[in-house]
Amino acid sequence: MNSPKQGIDFDELIQSDRIHGSLYTDSEIYQAEIERIFHNGWVFVGHDSEIPEPGDWVRRTIGEQPVLMIRDEKGQVQVLMNRCTHRGNLLCTKKKGHNTNLRCPYHGWIFGTDGELLDTPEASGYGAGFEKQNFDIPKAHHVDSYRGFVFTCLGETELTLADHLGDAALMLDRVADMSPEGEIELSGGWLQHRFKSNWKMLPENDTDGYHVAATHQSFVMATTSQAPDYVGEGSLPQVRDWGNGHTEIDFSPGYRHFDRTFEWYGRLPEAKVPNYVEAMNQRYGEEEARRKLVNGPPHAIIFPNLFLAEMNIVFYFPVGPDECVQVYTPLFLKGAPEMNKRTIRQTEGAVGPAAFLLADDVTIAERTQIGLAAHGSDWLDLSRGMDREGVDEQGHPVSHLSDETANRAFWSHYKTVMDVTA
Ligand code: FES
Ligand SMILES: [Fe+2]
Repeated sequence: MNSPKQGIDFDELIQSDRIHGSLYTDSEIYQAEIERIFHNGWVFVGHDSEIPEPGDWVRRTIGEQPVLMIRDEKGQVQVLMNRCTHRGNLLCTKKKGHNTNLRCPYHGWIFGTDGELLDTPEASGYGAGFEKQNFDIPKAHHVDSYRGFVFTCLGETELTLADHLGDAALMLDRVADMSPEGEIELSGGWLQHRFKSNWKMLPENDTDGYHVAATHQSFVMATTSQAPDYVGEGSLPQVRDWGNGHTEIDFSPGYRHFDRTFEWYGRLPEAKVPNYVEAMNQRYGEEEARRKLVNGPPHAIIFPNLFLAEMNIVFYFPVGPDECVQVYTPLFLKGAPEMNKRTIRQTEGAVGPAAFLLADDVTIAERTQIGLAAHGSDWLDLSRGMDREGVDEQGHPVSHLSDETANRAFWSHYKTVMDVTA
């Protein structure tokens, strides 16, 4: 079985301990994912701080659809289709901007920031039957945010954002609470990598703890990061299944064991960013601030397209069964300029084009895509750690850092979303 053609039997393709390789290559499966996961499910679209003023907008892609995340004149965040309702032209072409109204570059139709058609040049050419209100820009059915993270569902759904996030909302709390003002700012600009692999390799890899020692060997050897203390047979960090496809590598048990504050490339924050530590103490009190600095920011996937990558925020979108784009920015903490300066440098080291981590992961993803073209052994094994998995105090499955609990969690949720028998 290389490619299911008569309908898609997800029960067969996704088993508890293995998945079929065609899930990464089959174009029918890919199209179904675009429809069910990206166009009719909740996906991350951006952050409040990217569009602080009415008229601010950023260009994004949801699944394969170009959209705008825009703050309308009433201050509401809207997700509008980036397509003129006259003859389909792309309305906004830059990555971001600020406009009182949106003017289509083709024939000059003008829309409000909430998508309402306001004006058509040389309007006398349109007859009495032309109803302006029929030409407002279509918008997403749902837009909601949590701690400034904006999510959208383009189609109709009964699920609220709170339903979708479930207990994984705690991961977003943990990000925002790294700031002495309880807010983050994604104002550092976004870098983009386009590469030749299926999009699912990203959420799978990002909370796969097994690959760290081998794939990122050069990082582990060359830096004075604390990471080497936390990988290997006896390591304390855990992988966690938060439910709904949200997953985490929780490094904090290791950090707590050594009671060391998050070290940011080998130096204690008290030495490197004393003003930040002081601001955290002021806001949360010394004990709670220290707890936050020891636990550090999360390393977690919010299904399907958001990666809370410790001091970076990453999202991605597919552009075909074997191609996708990964987009990332430094995590800036409001009220912590000293820390943010440091984070820019750390971002260059971690996820920039010539950095240690992301370049490794992307290379492996591309090679995996190539490897999948070889047949004979068509299944990918996901059984690691199945017989030593446990649950945490809240009842979420957890296991050793190197176990495939997070991968199984991703695929189990994927199956519930995809396996809709029409
Ligand atoms: S396509 Fe936009 S005004 Fe004609
Ligand atoms: Fe990695």
